[in-house]
Amino acid sequence: MSSHIVGVDIGQTAIRAVEARSVRNGPIEVRAYQEAALPDGAVRGGEIVEPTAVATILKKMWVDGKFGTKDVILGMGDQKVVARDLVMPNLSQGEIRDLLPLRVQELIPMPVAEAIIDFYPIAEAASTDEGPAVRGLLVAAYADAVANNVAAVKRAGLQVVDVDFVPFALQRAVGSTGEGVSAIVDVGATTTNVVVSAHGVPDFVRIIPAGSDDATRALVTQLEVPRDQAERLKVAQGLHPEIVPPNDAKSAGIILDVTRELMTSIINTLRYYSSTHDNARVESLVLTGNGARLRGLPAALAQSTGIALVAPAPFARVRLPRTLASFGVSEALRAGTAIGLAMGARA
Ligand SMILES: Nc1ncnc2c1ncn2[C@@H]1O[C@H](COP(=O)(O)OP(=O)(O)OP(=O)(O)O)[C@@H](O)[C@H]1O
Ligand SMILES: [Mg+2]
Repeated sequence: MSSHIVGVDIGQTAIRAVEARSVRNGPIEVRAYQEAALPDGAVRGGEIVEPTAVATILKKMWVDGKFGTKDVILGMGDQKVVARDLVMPNLSQGEIRDLLPLRVQELIPMPVAEAIIDFYPIAEAASTDEGPAVRGLLVAAYADAVANNVAAVKRAGLQVVDVDFVPFALQRAVGSTGEGVSAIVDVGATTTNVVVSAHGVPDFVRIIPAGSDDATRALVTQLEVPRDQAERLKVAQGLHPEIVPPNDAKSAGIILDVTRELMTSIINTLRYYSSTHDNARVESLVLTGNGARLRGLPAALAQSTGIALVAPAPFARVRLPRTLASFGVSEALRAGTAIGLAMGARA
């Protein structure tokens, strides 16, 4: 593997790719950033369903971005992956891996034989009748979905050197590195990732199968308007009922209702974390994803959780070329995952 790598985040609405050079003992150096919109239906729930379309787009991104390597770290997140809390005997990583398939079936939605499973130790846990124990995160992905996405990327002539878990990439790029407990909430189109970290290390992850697209779809079905019009309504109005377009007062209520449901899921997830982790208080929250651009959403979330919001700053953790110096707030919302994937490369 060369020291250059491209972190590739394939979301529901867009592919984002960051070429970076890993530097020993220093922050990675970003060489190029490319983003390309995906046609509706090309990716669903984290799985590439139109591999030819995705491969064509990836090829074009490599040309447009003048990427200097075909080595890729691919992110997996979305509904094809789950993360669970797990206590295992305090054995070597290899021994734990061997034991996992025998222990985790009741925790995951897919048959163990059809899953890729891994365990990330976090801290020592109280001893069990098996002896010393370690608490950690179990991550399980549908093996077929991973293979399918890897194959689509290969079709573009690229080489997947690693597959990484999107919430871990988010933590690297935008998560708090300080003391205490902090959260990242990434509101995507169909998925909302929640990562809670203690002292800069992921402690808890939930992938909520809901996102900003739910509001768009509710507008399409309830108002019987085309998708692009629904999208425009949502973006223009957000959670501000006072900005009601002249021809459609109903939209405000629809957006509010759907977004409230999403907020309730986020709030319940953070509460669940606290109640299962010694009532730990989440002290700060980084809100990312384009879904976080919904007008009024950041303020509503800050108010209902009582948690201070911190703006994501993924570019502060890397070296940026001058050509990307103009990157601002909106790029910071959506580039985090791809940057974090590239940051995960081992120098
Ligand atoms: N200005 C805006 N205001 C409100 N919502 C917006 C705005 N811009 C984009 N969105 C919404 O953000 C969502 C897309 O977010 P994002 O690009 O982070 O998702 P994704 O990474 O493609 O998907 P996922 O992470 O779910 O796979 C869409 O539902 C879109 O309608
Ligand atoms: Mg995303």
